[in-house]
Amino acid sequence: MPTSRREFVSTLAAGSGALWLAPGARASTAVAGSAFEAAVAAGGRVAATFQHASDDPEACARNADLWRDVQGAWAVDRSILNMENGGMHPTPAAVTKAMFDSWLYANEAPSYTQSRVQWPQLESVRTRLASAFGCDPEELAVTRNSTEGFLSAALGIKLAAGDEVLTTTQDYHRFRNDLHQREQREGIVLKAVPLPIPAEDPSVVVQRFAEGITPRTRVILMPHVINLTGQFLPVRQVVQMARAKGVLVIVDGAHSFAHVPFRRDDLDCDIYVTSLHKWLAAPYGTGFLYVRRALIPSIWPLFPPTARAPEDIRKFEAIGSAPAAPFLAIRDALDFWQAIGAARKAARLRYLRERWLAKVAAVPGVIVHSTRIPALSGAIANIELEGIPPPKLATWLWEKHRALVGAIDHPEFKGIRVVPSLYTTEAEADRFADLILTARRQGI
Ligand SMILES: Cc1ncc(COP(=O)(O)O)c(C=O)c1O
Repeated sequence: MPTSRREFVSTLAAGSGALWLAPGARASTAVAGSAFEAAVAAGGRVAATFQHASDDPEACARNADLWRDVQGAWAVDRSILNMENGGMHPTPAAVTKAMFDSWLYANEAPSYTQSRVQWPQLESVRTRLASAFGCDPEELAVTRNSTEGFLSAALGIKLAAGDEVLTTTQDYHRFRNDLHQREQREGIVLKAVPLPIPAEDPSVVVQRFAEGITPRTRVILMPHVINLTGQFLPVRQVVQMARAKGVLVIVDGAHSFAHVPFRRDDLDCDIYVTSLHKWLAAPYGTGFLYVRRALIPSIWPLFPPTARAPEDIRKFEAIGSAPAAPFLAIRDALDFWQAIGAARKAARLRYLRERWLAKVAAVPGVIVHSTRIPALSGAIANIELEGIPPPKLATWLWEKHRALVGAIDHPEFKGIRVVPSLYTTEAEADRFADLILTARRQGI
């Protein structure tokens, strides 16, 4: 099983740490400065702006006026051209404020405020997330990230020596590593199928998985969105094929929830994990785990639950003492997203991607590793400039232009991963395209 640690090399790993601000340099302005307050106010206007917006997502995506308050709702550092919003996404100021307000209240008397007032409110977070995802609240555990949800599922599913887990060579490298531990410890067998890059024919993807299944295959792990290229995969078709063969499907949805609109029934999967600090822009350290109801009793949680019935989804939340504030502010992040509308958000993200990508894609020596078919893509794109190693390009973008991207060094392809956000302006997307054109035409 290849588990290359070099697959994702951030710009900073390329040695440009000196350009970072001193730790805490902006912290005080971020929480109390007028820029922060202005961002909270802009965020507060978003619901009213979108209330009368067109129902046509594509028309909304092109309407620059509509997005001004959305862009202003984040107190981000605009001296950085941040095109790396795929790892951790900043939270809108209103969400940050809601979290800090909760945190301050918790601190007044945590044994009362956290334990008796705040933690019981987790049930309302569960209900709202379940409603957004389209499942029963009793099938959804609130977690700190995709990793926590995934580990509960992947380590908690009963597998015997010789049982096979099938994944792809483009799955999140850490998840493949995690399963590797079960290989070493229990003798399960991990197999991986390669997928086309880009993968524009869903039937080929399903066929690759089908070819990888053997009589010993018990589980498929697949990404809903491949983090390296932004490719959306045909989860539902893979699930249908796999279910007919008695194979369970775990979906890594770290990059899908709140990126584009979909519901649980569109995937029909058995298990789904996501991080809410990515596309929902909820506070850092938030995510959820969905487990199809009938499966819950058969999965051991990562943290042995204290006195929870095996069928209680809350058994996956027994993490010990932790802050409630980030979890409670998930509701504020949901408010922000839903005020804009899932379809409008997805259309705007694709618009921003195309805004820079269309300017560079046809230039000789630019290789695009991502699909641009709307139904199979979102904000993320991966490009390569022939003859320029991605880490060098990423370092040049950062050190010379304070433009942040990720450099991907995968055994099957190399490139930079570019991830704009809703707060990205048209001018920023244009500036990024100009930087790529400069690198291509003049070199770096
Ligand atoms: C595809 C994919 N899966 C899972 C994860 C893990 O997410 P987290 O670190 O939030 O648990 C990531 C993180 O970037 C990812 O890109």
